[in-house]
Amino acid sequence: MSNAEQIDYWNGKVGDIWVQMQERMDAALTPVTAALLAAAAPQPGEAVLDVGCGAGETTLAAALAVGEDGSALGLDISAPLLAHARSRAEALLCDADFIAGDASTWADEGDFDLIMSRFGVMFFADPGAAFAHFHRLAAPGGRLVFACWQPAARNLWATFPMTALADLLPPQPASDPHAPGPFAFADAARVAMMLEAAGWQDATFHSLPFAMLIGSGDDPIADAVSFNLKIGPAARAVRDAGIGSDARPRLAAELGLYLAGGEVALPGAAWLVTARA
Ligand SMILES: C[S@@+](CC[C@H](N)C(=O)[O-])C[C@H]1O[C@@H](n2cnc3c(N)ncnc32)[C@H](O)[C@@H]1O
Repeated sequence: MSNAEQIDYWNGKVGDIWVQMQERMDAALTPVTAALLAAAAPQPGEAVLDVGCGAGETTLAAALAVGEDGSALGLDISAPLLAHARSRAEALLCDADFIAGDASTWADEGDFDLIMSRFGVMFFADPGAAFAHFHRLAAPGGRLVFACWQPAARNLWATFPMTALADLLPPQPASDPHAPGPFAFADAARVAMMLEAAGWQDATFHSLPFAMLIGSGDDPIADAVSFNLKIGPAARAVRDAGIGSDARPRLAAELGLYLAGGEVALPGAAWLVTARA
């Protein structure tokens, strides 16, 4: 099984969009980042691997926590996101390293105290093999801490625009719920079994509901519409169908429901997963 399709995907237009959206994504995911880092608790002197690090928000935070005696390595397949992560590290004089590689096979051995990820582990063609590989890269007793999405039905930020645009979009093909993608790890029981088979012990799944901020500033509705048309399942469907100009006013009208205090926020829900090697 190969990750070639995902490698193409994250190195194409989507990689560039995620670079443009880095600040907004980091703002939208602030509650997840805080919970992830609290659970991961990187300590001075530790070696940390951040899987699917993207633009590096969590790697940079880990580098700060582990200090000069530790190491923080961000691993990703997306050249544009890695370039952006490196420039952020340089600007912050932060000692984080960013490496290009398919995390499911990268490196023959490792001794990581902490392997972590914010939404970067749901894209492997063979997740069982990937997590067995991470187990080999972990130090004895090393921690695994990652965030993944709960089912789409609990993530209105993803389903709302699809519902609002349903009559404008062609019928969406039924998809395999376990195929690589944001919701591939929604079924906690299945992921727990996969982790155990891969050698990880004492897996816990903590439910993390949060308000995902998608619109703010002078025109929060327009901001939220542009978020919906850049990131998430609707962005892809709208791009493929070429219905951007019809989608905009429809989303603007419907998103008004979620405007409060000058911001647009939609419900999201993640699993915060921990285990040890
Ligand atoms: C949803 S993004 C999350 C990025 C980042 N962790 C964040 O929270 O902003 C998923 C990331 O996983 C990366 N990714 C997907 N498959 C990968 C693989 N096989 N090895 C390493 N990274 C991968 C993508 O390039 C992308 O940066």
